[in-house]
Amino acid sequence: MKQTILTGLRPTGNLHLGHLFGAAQNWVKLQDDYEFYLEIADVQALTDNFDNPEKVRKNVKEITADLLAIGINPEKVNFFIQSKIPEIAELTVFYSNLVTVARLQRNPTVKSEIAQKKELFGNDGESITYGFLGYPVSQAADITCFNGELVPVGDDQLPLIEQCREIVRKFNSIYGEVLKEPKPYLSKTTRIKGLDGNDKMGKSLGNAIYLIDDEETIKKKIMGAVTDPNKIKKDDPANPDICMVYYYHKLINNEENLNKICSECKCGSRGCVQCKKELIEKMNEFLKDIKDRRKKYEDNPELIDEILNEGTEKARKKAIEQMEKIKHAMKIDY
Ligand code: TRP
Repeated sequence: MKQTILTGLRPTGNLHLGHLFGAAQNWVKLQDDYEFYLEIADVQALTDNFDNPEKVRKNVKEITADLLAIGINPEKVNFFIQSKIPEIAELTVFYSNLVTVARLQRNPTVKSEIAQKKELFGNDGESITYGFLGYPVSQAADITCFNGELVPVGDDQLPLIEQCREIVRKFNSIYGEVLKEPKPYLSKTTRIKGLDGNDKMGKSLGNAIYLIDDEETIKKKIMGAVTDPNKIKKDDPANPDICMVYYYHKLINNEENLNKICSECKCGSRGCVQCKKELIEKMNEFLKDIKDRRKKYEDNPELIDEILNEGTEKARKKAIEQMEKIKHAMKIDY
């Protein structure tokens, strides 16, 4: 029997290269060998976007189109919408007894998100909601509702999987061995840097290249990428290892070109403008297939609805079965 994969994504914006080179390229690789559930986590997105439902609604379809465009095959992967699986919400309530408030506050991912919010809103954290603090519990329900065994994610998600594993152990110790303890599955590159050299590419950081960026946008972004600050004139030698342009060449260019770029940069025979122009060309080439594939869905949005509906239907069946076992174990199967 195939092992089960469950993973998810918050629909809060289009996919960028950080997603692609992080977890999403692993999803493409893994899709052949597992029973695969891919959750569009709209309920989770609402935990900190509850006042912006339009944004979440729009992005459910946007990110589904992006995921299809990078090569996730809906014949192999069950896409589903979290809010259409009520068992997940139900399970979240049951699990909320198995985790302390103090433990959630110590969760490193939640902790750093709360710190970011404090900085952003300049308050002392009083605006943190019960729902936001509890989203790791809801994510544990996402995973276990499908008996997910493997969870391919970026490394920022590890504390959430650990939290899920703790809930599973607690549940099993009280109610009997019903749930499986999921394992995280990391990609080789778990995190890519932004155009500004920041360790993380992110929407809120304004340093991302999106899969749907048009040629003009790509040009503007790459032209503004951070290079070695010590290189002032075109023929100054420079250090490619601290240059974001070289960093992106490394992600998408071939060995031969990379060696050439590297040695020319080091000896001062390559200007940054030329190097950026070459990167722009490579980037457009790289994104072309993705955009072509996406166009099919843009032109036929009903295909996306079909994929989401079919996947959600299959996911719901699985969730109902799992819920029966859980309720039986908890002695609430009246
Ligand atoms: N928390 C994940 C993110 O922010 C999204 C997510 C929701 C998820 N449910 C999941 C990831 C279940 C893995 C498993 O991207």
